[in-house]
Formats: sequence, structure tokens, C-alpha cells
Amino acid sequence: MKFFIDTANLDQIKEAQDLGILDGVTTNPSLMAKEGITGKKNILDHYKKICDIVDGDVSAEVIATDYKGMINEGKELSSLHKQIVVKVPMIKEGIKATRYFSDNGIRTNVTLVFSPGQALLAAKAGANYVSPFIGRLDDVSTDGLALISEIREIYDNYGFSTEILAASIRHTMHIVDCSKIGADVITTPLKSILDLLKHPLTDIGLENFLKDYKKGN
Ligand code: G3P
Repeated sequence: MKFFIDTANLDQIKEAQDLGILDGVTTNPSLMAKEGITGKKNILDHYKKICDIVDGDVSAEVIATDYKGMINEGKELSSLHKQIVVKVPMIKEGIKATRYFSDNGIRTNVTLVFSPGQALLAAKAGANYVSPFIGRLDDVSTDGLALISEIREIYDNYGFSTEILAASIRHTMHIVDCSKIGADVITTPLKSILDLLKHPLTDIGLENFLKDYKKGN
């Protein structure tokens, strides 16, 4: 399973990259705004900085919601760096744009996916990644992980190569459960990745090992 970090914060991206477990980055307009990155030029420059830190795919989202606008923006984003994957919203114009990008060698991540039918359409349009938002489904009392299972079954039935990128991850059990179900990728804030490290028995065991070593020396 690939690990992506879901942030536009350069320090956190660097920390995850330095851990040696990072496969990519996802961003969205809200995450950019959170870092105070505004204005087209600053946003494009920021994507380049992210690509310079990480070895792997970097999702950059289009702002346009019409077909022509998405095509123009997607071309500009993908020309920034070979690691850029164009993130397209799961709307009618987005599906048309995904088909265009797929036919023209531009990689895509279809985002804001909340149903198996949407994921099926994204795969049919040739998306490289599909991003179901599991935490936001859980927020409205709907089983986000069940959506991952349904998409896995559909993609396996027909051999779709679109990778399931489980997004809106809120905690470590989302990550563990996604790995059991067979999500291809998870994207998560750094905290959930670091939380995977934690176990009190590890801390106690290490403390005892070090205490015993000191006794003999
Ligand atoms: O990658 C999508 C993600 O940013 C959404 O996460 O926590 O805003 O639901 P969240």
C-alpha cells in the first residue's frame, strides 16, 4: 500500500519524506489556504517546492468547473513537473476532462468521491486514482470503509487499473482497515502516520532493555 501525505505544509512533507515511507502528496484548495498560499503564481510555485521534496506523485487540484477551464488548468499544472497528477472534481465536466487527460497522457486523480457509482464512472473515464473521502462519510453516519470495499470489488470484477486512494483519513484504524480491505493508497495528515508508531509495550520493552544493559555495564 502506498502512503501519501495530505497536506501542503512543507515541513510536514519533509518530515514524512525523511521517514523513508512516503510515496506521494495530495493537496486541495483548502489545504493550500490553510498554509496561507494564495494567488495563482504562489500556488504553482508551491507545487514545484513540494515536488522538489518528495519522490512520488503530487496531486494538484483544478479550480475550474467547466470542461475547457479544467483542460487548460490541467495542462498548465501537469507541465509544472512530471510528478504532478491533476486532481479533478467528480462532476460531469470533470469526467469529460478526465477522459481527455487520459487520452492525452496526463495523469488524474478524481476527487470528492462518495459512492461506488461515482468510482465506477471515474475508472471508465480512465482516472489513474480515485479518491473516496471516508472520514467525511463517517461524519454523516455512513460507513466510509464500506465504500472502499465496494469500490475494490467493482474494480477487481473488471480489472480496472484505477488506484483506490482512500482520503479523508482521520486516525490509525482507518489506515489499518484500508490496508486489510485492499485500498491501493491512503492519504492522511502526518499525525496519523506518526500515531502508527505508538504502542506502550514498545516503550516499556525498550526502557527495560536499556535498564538491563546498564546493569551489566
Ligand atoms: O484528500 C482529501 C482530504 O483532504 C479531505 O480530508 O479531513 O478535510 O475530510 P478532510
